Amino acid sequence: MIVIETIPDMAYLRNNLKEPVGFVPTMGFLHEGHMSLVKKARSENKTVVVSIYVNPTQFGPKEDLSKYPRDLPRDLAMLEKEGADVVFFPSDKEMYPDGYDTWVTVDNLTKPLEGDSRPTHFRGVTTIVNKLFNIVRPTNAYFGQKDAQQVLVVKKMAADLNMNLKVVVCPTIREPDGLAMSSRNVYLNPEQRKAAPVLNKSLLLAKELFIGGQRDAAVILKQMTSLIQKEPLADIDYISISDTATLAELKTISQSALISMAVRFGNTRLIDNILLG
Ligand code: PAJ
Repeated sequence: MIVIETIPDMAYLRNNLKEPVGFVPTMGFLHEGHMSLVKKARSENKTVVVSIYVNPTQFGPKEDLSKYPRDLPRDLAMLEKEGADVVFFPSDKEMYPDGYDTWVTVDNLTKPLEGDSRPTHFRGVTTIVNKLFNIVRPTNAYFGQKDAQQVLVVKKMAADLNMNLKVVVCPTIREPDGLAMSSRNVYLNPEQRKAAPVLNKSLLLAKELFIGGQRDAAVILKQMTSLIQKEPLADIDYISISDTATLAELKTISQSALISMAVRFGNTRLIDNILLG
């Protein structure tokens, strides 16, 4: 496994990589969710490139950039074990040199849900993902359904800007008690950690209602809300039932829906989602 820290080194190496090239962008502090993307990439490509970069431009001014968890030696050991070929680990200076001035924005899809709570977040994501795509030039790029809106936004960017690659979406990996794996779970204290599976429980409740024939979004939202509110440590940021393509809020579910949510436990904001239909 080769670790590359500069863009010229990555560009040079790129010319000699065996095709197809699978790419997994991450912010590090890897867990089984990330590793499931690496495994999928490994099974579908001759070369697997993983990036580890905590992208400052996708964090808001009051967010957790400086204390975002990092453990490079552990990440590298996990990637080596999973058979990754190349790790791209650039510095901030490398990605955003002095005078950096260009941004990539997906317009409407980034407005609701996460975009409403984190107005500059997706501009940072699309900009860095575009830069990484240009540097790594992957055949296939792997993203997790855990970040459902990010998947839609990246797919839209790739389609609208005629990017010559395939975006592959992988299912959300969960802890045994149902909590979606996330680098941010380490921020939870033991009581919060015990309460956090309520997100998944509320999504499973929604699924049960849907399977039972319930199609009224307000009814489902009400039951989800009351389940989460029984958990005193949980503070709902939003719960949404939206169109799976446009993210427009639905009153009635006809074929399919994305149910997504953000819930705070103290200063830690967790997101989760489920696709229905
Ligand atoms: P990060 O949060 O490190 O996640 C990297 C990738 O792992 C994303 O595609 C994310 O959806 C996926 N992932 C995280 N938790 C997962 C889980 N429990 N199950 C399945 N997949 C999971 O997402 C980012 O980084 C950044 O925004 C990035 C795309 C790297 C741009 O900076």
